[in-house]
Amino acid sequence: MNESLEQIALEKVGEWITRGAPDNAIPDEPMTALAAMRLVEEELAVEGIPERNLATFVTTWMEPEARKVIDDNLHRNYIDHAEYPQTFEIEQRCIRMLAELFHAPGETTGTSTQGSSEAIMLGALSLKWKWRQRREAAGKPTDSPNLVFGGDVHVVWEKFCRYFDVEPRIVPLQAGKYTVGPDDVEPHVDENTIGVAAVVGTTFTGHADDVVGINNLLLELKDKKGLDVPLHIDGASGGFVWPFLYPHSEWDFRLEQVRSINVSGHKFGMVYPGVGWLIFREKSDLARELVFTENYLGRADDTFTLNFSTGSSMILAQYYNFVRFGKAGYQRIMQMMQENAESLASDIESIGKFQLIGKDEETLPLVAFNLAEEHPYDEFDIAFQLSAERGWMVPAYTMPPNAQDVKMMRALVKLNLARSLVDTLHEDIAAAIDTLEKKGPVTESERKRVKTSVTH
Ligand SMILES: Cc1ncc(COP(=O)(O)O)c(C=O)c1O
Repeated sequence: MNESLEQIALEKVGEWITRGAPDNAIPDEPMTALAAMRLVEEELAVEGIPERNLATFVTTWMEPEARKVIDDNLHRNYIDHAEYPQTFEIEQRCIRMLAELFHAPGETTGTSTQGSSEAIMLGALSLKWKWRQRREAAGKPTDSPNLVFGGDVHVVWEKFCRYFDVEPRIVPLQAGKYTVGPDDVEPHVDENTIGVAAVVGTTFTGHADDVVGINNLLLELKDKKGLDVPLHIDGASGGFVWPFLYPHSEWDFRLEQVRSINVSGHKFGMVYPGVGWLIFREKSDLARELVFTENYLGRADDTFTLNFSTGSSMILAQYYNFVRFGKAGYQRIMQMMQENAESLASDIESIGKFQLIGKDEETLPLVAFNLAEEHPYDEFDIAFQLSAERGWMVPAYTMPPNAQDVKMMRALVKLNLARSLVDTLHEDIAAAIDTLEKKGPVTESERKRVKTSVTH
């Protein structure tokens, strides 16, 4: 009996069941497909459950039909345009659809990417190249480019500056002021500024920089000082939210200095990771030197990407979402998320301990909040308690300089946080507070396990 059980264990799950998973070297011998599958699945069992991950903007649920499109096309290499011309055409359709959504004035160009990070790297590279062209044409030096943005941007902007040798000019935040506007930006802009980056839907609180104000400032600089400084919009999250929730709010190509926009398909575009988009206002906003035309497998191919081979599935899934939901569907979904976010916000407020951040401003479907007063416990303790008691991943974090003393919590309300889960979350936050009131703050080692990253 024992022997046959052992036999079953070996056949079904392999030797790793008693020896531990291979970790330093590829195993010498194969295992059954079933064993390999179970090994991988069991390794992941200790991770967080995506449905309870309220830290991430990234899509954690898609329809079965969308998953079928994804599954059916996993073997299709996006870059093989010669072999898969229709995939390329579908990518181009998505670019045109986004350009139309963002009010591009005419024919434009853009590219799909792995996400907003790649889109930002490419967009900012184009800003740098275009600036250099302008400087060279004017016979001026090109050795000290700078890029202006607020402390509310995602880390990728600083990464771009370091990787591509551009001076970052970062407008610091202040306690109570978590976005930037023209007065903050103005002192930093000069003739070496390759562009200004503004965020629509910040990673930290979900709000938007004053894009209209910054655009007006840049128009004034063009008019009065002859400085033509382009504005790039980081719409990683907001690019799919603002057009549907705040259609009359101008943040896109309706504003003259907005020359390029990035958006993550895998955030509110509602596709699984990773797909992002970079859209230019006009074809001439893309520096031609960055486009490589190569003769690949007998066909001249224009590429403007940091990667080469990559999957087609998420691009096709983006197109699936566009045709499946249409604009009305996206709008309804965004409204549902917003309704649930508002319900969660008033629930959190009713606990009587918290203040909501930027409550009446345009924002992403999320709730950003912190403790209104001093308590023996803080936001990090609440995040730990909530996760220990009910497995919710609601991050606690400190804000960027000079608001680094402000602690914050943030809960994303996506499609899979339906109203009954919102209600459960509310009860669970109240219960976590109750526990902390009774037992006091959590221990140092518990605090180390708190989710603090908001960089996605
Ligand atoms: C405002 C902003 N920009 C850029 C990024 C990076 O996007 P991605 O994860 O698609 O590379 C994020 C991610 O959260 C973001 O919130």
